[in-house]
Amino acid sequence: MNEVILELKNIHKSFGNNTIHSGINLTLHKGESLGLLGGSGTGKSVLLRSIIGLEQIDKGEILFSGKRIDHLSENALIPFRIKISYSFQSGALFDSINVFENVAYPLFEHTKFSYNQIKDKVAKMLKLIDLEGKEDLMPSDLSGGMQKRVGMARAMILNPEIILYDEPTAGLDPANTLNVVSLMQKLKLKGLASIFVTHDIPSAIMLCDRIVVLHEGKIAFNDTPEKFQNSEDPIVKKFITSTKE
Ligand SMILES: Nc1ncnc2c1ncn2[C@@H]1O[C@H](COP(=O)(O)OP(=O)(O)OP(=O)(O)O)[C@@H](O)[C@H]1O
Ligand SMILES: [Mg+2]
Repeated sequence: MNEVILELKNIHKSFGNNTIHSGINLTLHKGESLGLLGGSGTGKSVLLRSIIGLEQIDKGEILFSGKRIDHLSENALIPFRIKISYSFQSGALFDSINVFENVAYPLFEHTKFSYNQIKDKVAKMLKLIDLEGKEDLMPSDLSGGMQKRVGMARAMILNPEIILYDEPTAGLDPANTLNVVSLMQKLKLKGLASIFVTHDIPSAIMLCDRIVVLHEGKIAFNDTPEKFQNSEDPIVKKFITSTKE
């Protein structure tokens, strides 16, 4: 198995009296795709946000390549937010700027590349997401699936080592879902590690090396997709049935 790139140790998180995580332990290896499943409100998005420091954990440790990254200042977090990219639940494009400006934004913000170098990088990235030459389109000109792919392109443009996907296929029709999942597959082949939060079990099984199920603040299941599908664990069985309705 490849080396560990991200490690969550004994994570605890509450909002007031509402306990969300009560001792989460999880490791992600280089190049690995991990599917993070669980019912609505089990704290999947909060866990992703905690990893990149958008939420403060109450107890525990988060390590990236062996270095602690929980409780860092906003400034100290910047290099890690480049290495660990977050693709938002909504796609979150800036509506008033075009595709080129959306994808190029992190490059203008965080690098000293020339305008021509940036144009080149964006063009390559648009090719990868099958939107070659679409620089001038506005987000409102794009389908939901295209918007998600542009959001993923923006999340990828600084060459992160990990990408955190929060429901990238939610609300998409089957064709667009397939497009997004095949883009995720391409990125995986490039060696990118990922955590894929989703309610879309077939996509998670297709893409992931490992499936993790969050339940009542803890990890109830952590094994291969095959073991997940054949699991006799009542929590896993109940969860799989509940998503089929
Ligand atoms: N900033 C916040 N303040 C207070 N409570 C919050 C905050 N963010 C999330 N919560 C609560 O934490 C719990 C977990 O939320 P989270 O968004 O992580 O769920 P989820 O597993 O991603 O659900 P879904 O599958 O519906 O997206 C919920 O009860 C939610 O109301
Ligand atoms: Mg969520």
